[in-house]
Amino acid sequence: MNFKEHVIKKIVDMTELDREAVEKAIEIPPDEKMGDLAFPCFPLAKIMRKAPPVIAQELAGKMSDDDMIDKVQAAGGYLNFFLNREKLISAAVTAVNASGDDWGKSDIGANRTVLVEYSSPNIAKPFHIGHLFSTAVGNSLAKIYAHLGYNVQSLNHLGDWGTQFGKLISAYKRWGDREIIEKNPIKELLKIYVRFHEEAEKYPELEDEARAEFKKLEDGDAEATELWKYFRDISLVEYNRVYNMLGVSFDSYNGEAFYSDKMDEIVDILRDKGLLEESDGAQVVDLSELNMPPCIILKSNGATIYATRDIAAALYRHRTYDFYKNIYVVGTTQALHFNQFFSVMKKAGWDWADNCIHVGFGLVRFGGKSLSTRHGDIVYLDDVLNESIEKTRDIIEKNNSNVENKDEAAKKIGIGAVLYTFLKNSREKDIDLSWDTMLDFEGESAPYCQYGYARGRSILRKAEGIDYSNADFSKAVSDEAYSLVKQLNAFGDAVRDAAEKNEPFYVNRYVTNLTKSFNKFYNTNPIMKDDVDMDTKKARLAIVEATTRVIKTALSLLGIETVESM
Ligand code: ARG
Repeated sequence: MNFKEHVIKKIVDMTELDREAVEKAIEIPPDEKMGDLAFPCFPLAKIMRKAPPVIAQELAGKMSDDDMIDKVQAAGGYLNFFLNREKLISAAVTAVNASGDDWGKSDIGANRTVLVEYSSPNIAKPFHIGHLFSTAVGNSLAKIYAHLGYNVQSLNHLGDWGTQFGKLISAYKRWGDREIIEKNPIKELLKIYVRFHEEAEKYPELEDEARAEFKKLEDGDAEATELWKYFRDISLVEYNRVYNMLGVSFDSYNGEAFYSDKMDEIVDILRDKGLLEESDGAQVVDLSELNMPPCIILKSNGATIYATRDIAAALYRHRTYDFYKNIYVVGTTQALHFNQFFSVMKKAGWDWADNCIHVGFGLVRFGGKSLSTRHGDIVYLDDVLNESIEKTRDIIEKNNSNVENKDEAAKKIGIGAVLYTFLKNSREKDIDLSWDTMLDFEGESAPYCQYGYARGRSILRKAEGIDYSNADFSKAVSDEAYSLVKQLNAFGDAVRDAAEKNEPFYVNRYVTNLTKSFNKFYNTNPIMKDDVDMDTKKARLAIVEATTRVIKTALSLLGIETVESM
């Protein structure tokens, strides 16, 4: 039973407009008092040669109510539809409860592959909070696309190649101690890497040594390769610890190194197409007609660089996955880089380059300090997550919560709180992390939504034994119930909007508003109180179940888990 379709059909039958035009024009009124759906009569003014308010009056007069529509009202140039509350609530709640965890799912993505590249930390460098931003957004987008039926591949484009590996190998050979490193791989590798830079200022010949080491690595020297692999493996162990905490996984860890043998082809293709030109000894693609600096493909010493590896990766992905979209979740600070290599691919005549999308995000500050490896004062991701978990644990303790497994709850809430913060606003906005906001159980936060969910679950536990599967919804048509259930219906739109704009915050805002409406509902519509009659109880319980299902599903699309009590 689709109410919107029904309204569209009614309008089409009475006017000369076609289905698409009506569907496009129909909107949800800004104020619920103005009805559930509104049709602006302005496009009809020309055809009917009358003023929109007159048309609205006429149509309202002619339009008969039926069992799905309670009344039709003209207001200015609008035709406002008030739907049958009982029918709508009954249809939606029954459908949600029958859907399991699948509410909002669709098959618009069937037979289409979407690649989501995210996280992509640099080997032997700390996984910092900027990478967490990418991980939070990418993981959520991957889940959102999957909910819409796309075949999703999560890719981690590890920064595991480049001249820095020559430096690291040479530093390791000089000062590396396996035993110490294994206790704390990334911190220790970073230490010797920083030491290399300090010493190289005094002894510049170290730079030559590092270059020679990288050359050996590029040439497949056994010892250099073994060390490179070792650095990569121990770094991945650490990253995986964080990924496990976050519940994130990847289908591929093919990083920059994977493409190192696929770059000659790129150079050949670009040369054959006459796109390469020399500039100070380097081979570049001129992009001046697009007002961009040239894209460097080969350095003067013949070494390929970041952009070339990215072009090789994109071609490989095109051939391997024949993608519908190839999404890169990387900070907006790299926008020019993406713009440049996308442009090179377009100049090469690859029409699929249009389906490569840079999904950028802003900078992260913590208590006002900006976070960057270059400035030394790095905020480590594990530390942030662990601190969040500890603080949550304190709050749970202070609230005298009756949650069963406090450690597990603290973990889900603490991590959820951090993830939510990254997905709360339009992603290009810079964010300033603050514990007070992240862990505000009453404000717009993960704990707030998780609390709403737990509250609903506790109501359902109290109702154990009551069979509400055939509830009579005429008992639950209050404004609060109606408004809440209409929101349940809107979940699919939020998921589609999020995918269309690559903005998980549509889902975040959705679940926050849904939880707010749910709070209002159960505060004004008592459920398990003694003086509530059984039929009303049943109808309200069915609504509670539907809402908890949708809160859980929506949070899961953000990568956030729920707890059964809080
Ligand atoms: N490893 C890079 C960094 O940490 C991010 C990689 C982005 N992805 C890409 N295809 N260039 O800055």
